[in-house]
Amino acid sequence: MKFFVDTADLAEIRDMAGAGMVDGVTTNPSLIAKSGRPLLEAIADICALVDGPVSAEVTATDHDTMLAEGRRLAAIAPNVAVKVPLTVDGLRTCRALADEGRVVNVTLCFTPQQALLAARAGAGFISPFVGRLDDLGLDGIGLVRDICEIYRAYDGIRTEVLAASVRGPLHIVEAARCGAHAATVPPQILRQLYRHPLTDAGLEAFLADWRKTGQSILDLADAAD
Ligand code: G3P
Repeated sequence: MKFFVDTADLAEIRDMAGAGMVDGVTTNPSLIAKSGRPLLEAIADICALVDGPVSAEVTATDHDTMLAEGRRLAAIAPNVAVKVPLTVDGLRTCRALADEGRVVNVTLCFTPQQALLAARAGAGFISPFVGRLDDLGLDGIGLVRDICEIYRAYDGIRTEVLAASVRGPLHIVEAARCGAHAATVPPQILRQLYRHPLTDAGLEAFLADWRKTGQSILDLADAAD
């Protein structure tokens, strides 16, 4: 599974990329607003930080303007993935951008039928919003499971399932069980993935015992060489 970080915060992206945990980045208008930075500059800086796909979302709602915005966003850097909402105009724009060879991330997906239409429109990624369904007491992971099952039934579908609106590590584990290609994860949740108190305690115990030997691997190696 690929891990994308769901933020427009450069410091967070830099930190997670430095840990080797970033295969891509997703932003949305709310995350851009939270960053306080001009969209084009923020996306350009993010694209310079990571090699993987960086999702930049259009903000128009009509096809013609979405297409113009999408072309401009795609021109920022080769690794921009243009994000469009799952509306009829968004699907039209997805088809047009995909036909121009651009990668499109179709976002705000809440049903399998929406995901089918996104794949038909040539989406590079589909973003089912797991957490927002769970927030309503609905089955967010069930949506990911349905989309993965349906997509696997058609060899011609190349759209990658990008689990989004992730609220915790279990969403990632369950999305991986479904076979989702990627998950986009807030930085604080990405950090939860590798942290465990038993790992910390076990490592400390190993090192305490090792220190008692007075040995150093590199010193031993130098003496042996
Ligand atoms: O950025 C796309 C998606 O992950 C945002 O979901 O529910 O955390 O705003 P949410």
